Amino acid sequence: MAFRVMLVLGARPQFIKSAPVIHQFLKRRGVELQIVDSEQHYDYELSKIFFEELRLPRPALSLHVGSGSHASQTGKAMVRIESGILALKPDIVLVPGDTNTTLAAAISAAKLNVPIGHIEAGARSYDMSMPEEVNRTLTDHISNLLFAPTKNAERNLRAEGISRKRIFQTGDTMVDALKTALPLARKLKRSLLGQLDLDEGEYVLTTSHRPANVDDRHKLHAIVAGLMRISESMKVVFPMHPRIAHNLESYGLLRKLRRSRNLIALKPQGYVKMIALLDSARAMLTDSGGIQKEAFLLGTPCVTMRDTTEWPETLKNQANTLVDADPDRIVKLIFRANKVPSRRPLDSGSPFGTGKSSDRIVRAVLSTSYRSHASPELLRVT
Ligand code: UD1
Repeated sequence: MAFRVMLVLGARPQFIKSAPVIHQFLKRRGVELQIVDSEQHYDYELSKIFFEELRLPRPALSLHVGSGSHASQTGKAMVRIESGILALKPDIVLVPGDTNTTLAAAISAAKLNVPIGHIEAGARSYDMSMPEEVNRTLTDHISNLLFAPTKNAERNLRAEGISRKRIFQTGDTMVDALKTALPLARKLKRSLLGQLDLDEGEYVLTTSHRPANVDDRHKLHAIVAGLMRISESMKVVFPMHPRIAHNLESYGLLRKLRRSRNLIALKPQGYVKMIALLDSARAMLTDSGGIQKEAFLLGTPCVTMRDTTEWPETLKNQANTLVDADPDRIVKLIFRANKVPSRRPLDSGSPFGTGKSSDRIVRAVLSTSYRSHASPELLRVT
């Protein structure tokens, strides 16, 4: 009988970071991969586009969880994932990242005594006001296998008393994803920059979606003021997450932004286009968790509109700088940021690993004692 691995996803960064793991599992004989999409993200640009672009198989289950308050979204996801586990009887449930879907799947599996593997375990901002910090901390403490992306993440888990036996320092699957996407992004770059009338290294790329920034009227005004000032002397490319697009519209700020000739407002981009834009940008201004790492790996200086980061490795040599939503500071840091194209951790080895994380995760899953009924055949790659 096949070894059944359930992988529960639901939001943009999870599709991207799980793609390499999915493709590794698909290469193994004797494994039945059950992809469950909670549909926490349901817009085409935040969800289905990645299934197409990253060639992900159709999910075995789509759970239509959608948006809602944290409790209702997590609760709905728990109930539906529980039914999914009962129906599909996985031997292990894998949960990547730190979304409400991650926590819901981990709790549902734990209560049904199904082993859990947490991908991206041990990331900590030590800011419990972040919903993601609550999700990842709780998930780590009920997981059986913890796949830590960095040494620092492993140290964080050990400091919380988690046994070394449960921790696998695998590297970050984002490096694997980036290594696949970069050659495609490089091919696309000239035509993409041409279409948007951009010159290599001559524009700032920006994204923002964190509730702490975009749901706070004052902070949103401050971010827009910063962007307007940057756009007085440089083009600004702004792929807008639906959350910020909605709030900019309701606070009357979208019209203001659109008046600036230098500000290019876009829909959320597919992954390869996003990497092409990031690779060629002079600097990145963001509050994303994942983009901080991608900017670091590509050697694009990053300014992060947050007080804390779960990726302290990116702060070294000011490759990434944290800033409040303060227009003066944002503008100053963006113009101070200097790109050094020869300094790209992706090429020379980085604290996030060398792109073999998904293989390590899959091997660890398949060789653990949980697959008591399985054969060594599982470890063979076809
Ligand atoms: C954060 C949360 C996560 C939440 C998600 C919501 C943290 C630590 N985690 O993740 O729990 O579910 O926000 O969105 O805050 N990208 C594109 N196209 C774009 C913009 C980004 O492909 O237009 C790619 C980036 O290259 C990167 C990933 O999406 O690979 C990052 O996704 P993002 O939505 O920014 O999520 P995080 O901040 O990483």
